[in-house]
Amino acid sequence: MNARPRVGLIGCGRIGKIHLRTLLAHPERCEFAGLVDSNEGALRTIAAEYRLETVSTDISTIFDDPTIDAVIIASSTETHAACIEEAARTGTSAFTEKPIALDLESTDRALAAVHWAGTRLQVGFQRRFDSGYAAAHRKIADGELGTIEMIRDAMRDPAPPPPAYLEKSGGLFRDMTIHNFDCVRWLKGHDPVEIFAVGSALTGDEVLAAGDIDTSIVTMRFADGSLASIENSRRSGFGYDVRTEVFGSKGAIHIGDSRQTPVRHLTASGVREDHQYFFLERFKDAYEAEVLSFLQAVVSDTEVEVTGADGRAALRLAILAEESRRLGRPIAAGEVANGIDSELESRMTISA
Ligand SMILES: NC(=O)c1ccc[n+]([C@@H]2O[C@H](COP(=O)([O-])OP(=O)(O)OC[C@H]3O[C@@H](n4cnc5c(N)ncnc54)[C@H](O)[C@@H]3O)[C@@H](O)[C@H]2O)c1
Repeated sequence: MNARPRVGLIGCGRIGKIHLRTLLAHPERCEFAGLVDSNEGALRTIAAEYRLETVSTDISTIFDDPTIDAVIIASSTETHAACIEEAARTGTSAFTEKPIALDLESTDRALAAVHWAGTRLQVGFQRRFDSGYAAAHRKIADGELGTIEMIRDAMRDPAPPPPAYLEKSGGLFRDMTIHNFDCVRWLKGHDPVEIFAVGSALTGDEVLAAGDIDTSIVTMRFADGSLASIENSRRSGFGYDVRTEVFGSKGAIHIGDSRQTPVRHLTASGVREDHQYFFLERFKDAYEAEVLSFLQAVVSDTEVEVTGADGRAALRLAILAEESRRLGRPIAAGEVANGIDSELESRMTISA
C-alpha cells in the first residue's frame, strides 16, 4: 500500500469538519482525495473556507474513483451502513462515525459486506484514543487496579442537538450512551450480563417531540458480579462533562480533567479554572489520533483498533437498554427481548 493513502470524506457537518482538518493537517500521512456532502450550501462554504477543489454532492465520485484507498464516513447516522457496504463493494477501507446503523439487521449487513470483501472498518469511538482513557485502560490491563469491581461513567452535553439531528439520531441510548457502552465494555474487558435503564425528558418540547429522552441512568452487572453505572444528560449548565471512575480491588482511577489549561486560579472571591465547553474541544486530540490510527492500519495492512464488532456490541447494549426502559425492569443480556437478542447472538461471529 501507498504510504500516503488517498482518502475521501463523506459529510462536512460538526464532526466531518474535525476529520477534514485532520486529513488536511497531515499531508505526510495521506492525500486528501475529495469531500462529498448532500447539502450543497454547506459544501460550498467548507470548500471556500478550506480551499478545496474536489467537492461534490454525488457520493459516486468517491466510490467510482479506483484511486481512492480509504473513506471517512461522517455523514448523518442513517447513511453509514449503505456507505460501509459501498466501501466494501469497491475494496475501500472505511472509517465510520458511530453508530454503524440504528438497528442490528443493517449493522449485520454492513459487517457481513466488510467481512466477505476482506476490507477494513474502524468505528469512531474516540475515547479509546484519549490520553487519559488510554492510560487508564493500560493500567487496568496491566493489573494495577486488581479486579475491577465498579465503574462509574458519566457524560453530559451542554445542550440538546437541533431537532433535525434529534429526529434522525436513533434516540439517546443509540446516539449518545453508545459511547459509554463502548467505554465500559472496553475498560472492563467484557460485556455485561444484565442491564437496567431509566430515563426522562427534562429539557423541553423538542426532545419530547422527537419521542426521545434526554436524561438517563443505566446500571449493568457483569458475570463476575461487578457493577457499572452510566449517567447521561443532553443538558449541562456548565458545559460538556465526561468523567469515569474505575474501582478495583487494589485501587481506583479517575479519568476526566476537563480543564482547557492546567491552571487553577485562587483569589479572595474564589477559585477559577477554565473548562472545555464542548466535546469537540475535549476530544480534539482523540479525534485526530483515531483517524491517524486508521490511516496507519490502512498503510500497514493491519487490523484497526476499534472494530465493526465493537460498534455492533455497543449498539446491542443500547438496544437492550431501550428495551429495559420500555419494560421498566432489568434485562438479562441472554434474554429474548422482542426476538432481538436471540437473532443477535446467532450473528455474533460475523466480524470475528
Ligand atoms: N464520535 C463523536 O464524538 C461524534 C460526535 C458528533 C457526531 N458524531 C456522529 O457523526 C455523524 C454526523 O454527526 P454531525 O454532528 O456531524 O451531524 P451534522 O448534521 O452536523 O452533519 C451531518 C452532515 O452529513 C451530511 N449528509 C447527510 N446525508 C448525506 C448523504 N446522503 N451524503 C452525503 N452527506 C450527507 C449533511 O448534509 C451534514 O453536512 C452522526 O452519525 C453522529 O452520530 C460522532
